[in-house]
Amino acid sequence: MCGITGYIGPRNGIELAIDQLHRLEYRGYDSAGIAFPQNGGLRVIKSEGKIARLESLLEGEKTAAFTAVAHTRWATHGKPSHDNAHPHTDCTGRVAVVHNGIIENYLELRHALQERGHAFSSETDTEVIAHLIEEQLEQDLVEAVKKVLPQLRGSYAIAVLSTVDREKIVVARKDSPLIIGLGEGENFVASDIPAVMRYTRRVIVLEDGEMAVVTRDRVQVMRADGTPVQRDPMEVTWDESSAEKGGYPHFMLKEIHEEPRTLRDTLRGRISQDGLVAFSDLSLYPDELRGFRRILITACGTALHAGMVGKLFFERLLRRPVDIWFASEFRYGDPIIDESTLAIIISQSGETADTLAALRACKEHGATTLGIVNVVGSSIAREAHHVLYTYAGPEICVASTKAYITQLAVLYLLGIYLAQLEGRLSNEEARAMVHEVQSLSDRVEQVLKGEEQIIHLAKQLAPSTCFFYLGRGYDYAVSLEAALKLKEISYIHAEAYPAGEMKHGPLALVEPGVTVVAFATQPSTFEKMVSNMKEVKAREGFVLAVAPEGHEDILRHVADELIVLPPVHPTFAPVVSIVPMQLLAYYIARERGCEIDQPRNLAKSVTVE
Ligand code: M6R
Repeated sequence: MCGITGYIGPRNGIELAIDQLHRLEYRGYDSAGIAFPQNGGLRVIKSEGKIARLESLLEGEKTAAFTAVAHTRWATHGKPSHDNAHPHTDCTGRVAVVHNGIIENYLELRHALQERGHAFSSETDTEVIAHLIEEQLEQDLVEAVKKVLPQLRGSYAIAVLSTVDREKIVVARKDSPLIIGLGEGENFVASDIPAVMRYTRRVIVLEDGEMAVVTRDRVQVMRADGTPVQRDPMEVTWDESSAEKGGYPHFMLKEIHEEPRTLRDTLRGRISQDGLVAFSDLSLYPDELRGFRRILITACGTALHAGMVGKLFFERLLRRPVDIWFASEFRYGDPIIDESTLAIIISQSGETADTLAALRACKEHGATTLGIVNVVGSSIAREAHHVLYTYAGPEICVASTKAYITQLAVLYLLGIYLAQLEGRLSNEEARAMVHEVQSLSDRVEQVLKGEEQIIHLAKQLAPSTCFFYLGRGYDYAVSLEAALKLKEISYIHAEAYPAGEMKHGPLALVEPGVTVVAFATQPSTFEKMVSNMKEVKAREGFVLAVAPEGHEDILRHVADELIVLPPVHPTFAPVVSIVPMQLLAYYIARERGCEIDQPRNLAKSVTVE
């Protein structure tokens, strides 16, 4: 997720594009840049770091420009650096492009362009767009962009500036947001509405497969093939601060609602045409992967809980022991690691001190390390031998939600991939599993439609002072994450237990006023979970059951309330069953008037041991 902006009109476009950029900083902040026409060419200024750094570079620029495009980056392809910052230019310096999204076939395009003599100056997927436009630029800019769009696979929102047609910004979108703010004799381009709200409330939202030609006085919207589209502007009525959160009151809720899209982004480019896992971004060769005798997973907090699902999945699929370690405990235990160990290090931020220390210890013991990381170019991403990014985009709320879902998706793909390599899954079986993983974004979307029920439940449960989350197998792993979500943002004491353990002690705590959330997504343990619910009911605890559709008749007899999930394969149920729990934690915290995005005593990135 990056932010793009643009301005064309009578005012100083540099200042306006930068001001808009500031309002998009929540979309990414590892590097920033701007392009504008100057002395018959294009001037591009960019830098690693936040927008403020770019501004300090611009202070020396005495010039004004009436047109500009700018970008704040959240790295996906290529580490955060000056060279990888946008805008990207072609060989001749006549084209500048800012881009948000992922061009899946960029390697293919890049090789072909290099063979045709183009020289690249970044590692990004975006730069191919500038060179492809360069090749078509004997015609006008709009025609050139039209010819290039069909060659791009993946997602994009782009804004293009060119010396050939300096009175225009050409924009296009597919699967990434792009809006145009309409002014009087001036127009604005941005990834998101908050960027333009200070200047105008009249906005055109570009739809997938559309492009637009933006001049000072006119905006022409068309399909990517040039067919004109009639689009009436909408009037924005939100206030600025809620607009930054996409109209949601908190980043947490926004990030939960982003989950279907982030899941799709995580899978993008990792599934081949024939429906099998194909990690073009994994630098570990199949032979190396086949050679590991041990697998070890280490992480903290939510990332560790994702790892627990990964452990169960890998062991079932690969029939090999998988150790899992709290990264914070790593140095005090004596994990068995050697040169035949693949150590998987999971982290959203890539900066968690305990996780980083565990990674370094794994390396010292000769393990091969594979990071599953969200923040590109973070310490863990740089120090691990290999890395798979989760592509969840910036996660602002301290409580991790969308990052967890994408960590699960990467672990599932990795497990299927390893099983394929080791001949433990036939192509047909692997394809069926991949298909299930692909359908998870739709399932999550369905769950989000049930938000009203969760709001109602939250009102009912907010006064509870004690929660237990129970499950077996995958459901226990999800229980841990569900309990963590509730305790960190609502400050209610919450414990997760393997359901069968209750009778060995914790059942003594169950009494009226105690809420027990019971997950029953696994057919093999469904009946046992029903018995556990009955045990709680017998002690007058309140039971909230969470199960896929088809069990309503039984569960309505034993549970006080029931959350019905869409049908989902039991192996992949964690991705779906955690979503109502994230929402429940959110709405309970809201009922209790808690500070949601920045809970007390916690930090987003824990960089101390
Ligand atoms: O950035 P990381 O994934 O390494 O962070 C690990 C934990 O600090 C993090 O998951 C924490 O538990 C979250 N607040 C949970 O919501």
